[in-house]
Amino acid sequence: MEILKVNHLSKIYKGAVSYEALSKIQLTINQGEFVGIMGPSGSGKTTLLNLVSTIDSPTSGEVLINGRNPHTLTPDELAVFRRRELGFVFQSFNLLHTLTVKENIILPLALDGISVQEMNTRVNHLAEKLGITAILDKRTYEISGGQAQRTAIARALIHEPKLVLADEPTGNLDSKAARDVMGIMEKRNKEDGTTMMLVTHDPVAASYCNRVVFIKDGELYNEIHYGDNRAAFYQKIINVLSLMGGNADEFQTIRV
Ligand SMILES: Nc1ncnc2c1ncn2[C@@H]1O[C@H](COP(=O)(O)OP(=O)(O)OP(=O)(O)O)[C@@H](O)[C@H]1O
Ligand SMILES: [Mg+2]
Repeated sequence: MEILKVNHLSKIYKGAVSYEALSKIQLTINQGEFVGIMGPSGSGKTTLLNLVSTIDSPTSGEVLINGRNPHTLTPDELAVFRRRELGFVFQSFNLLHTLTVKENIILPLALDGISVQEMNTRVNHLAEKLGITAILDKRTYEISGGQAQRTAIARALIHEPKLVLADEPTGNLDSKAARDVMGIMEKRNKEDGTTMMLVTHDPVAASYCNRVVFIKDGELYNEIHYGDNRAAFYQKIINVLSLMGGNADEFQTIRV
């Protein structure tokens, strides 16, 4: 089943000089897939994610999420649609610092009028899976970056969204915490079938995906699938990145 369908999606940023950041992109993500989006800086990754997440509107083409085009909804409908169908994970965690870990996680449910008992059941269950049970009552300034990102992932998953969108979720983490976070996303994808789309510069993070789509100059460049194991997939990712060119320093090629 298609969870995300992007049809001939284009984005032109208008200004003194207009700039076509995305050009007629076609992309389908099926139920249960974990898809990485990679490409050099300025290739259009965040633009694509912003069009899918409805943060920004396309110049032409359409986005269908679970068969519906969110760009045609009214602002009120869109707010509900985003809260119910999408989960977001950002580089900067975006947690509310006046709230505890638990309060941050249940916020989307509270907005939807779910009962306290149901919220507690869900948060306890999910916290167990993400290894954050012990920190549920802590404030966000009392936890590590890796724990903050796991909290943000829990918040993104608590309402069982159709699609989870992540923009550089490991960008602010050291390599150990980054692996933990990617391992958790991989597990939720494998065990719960959560569909995910991840934008990343990091080939290690991308190697946890089932498929990696490469964008260059606003166009699809290539896509590769996970094969036998993660080390081999990582190597394939590195190979495509080096073929694509761009600034080699943008990609970390040393960590395996
Ligand atoms: N609001 C904007 N107005 C004008 N041009 C923009 C705007 N946002 C992005 N661009 C341009 O569109 C292109 C794609 O930008 P985008 O942010 O999607 O790249 P990216 O692939 O996410 O890059 P990075 O890896 O550096 O995050 C870039 O050339 C950028 O300068
Ligand atoms: Mg970006």
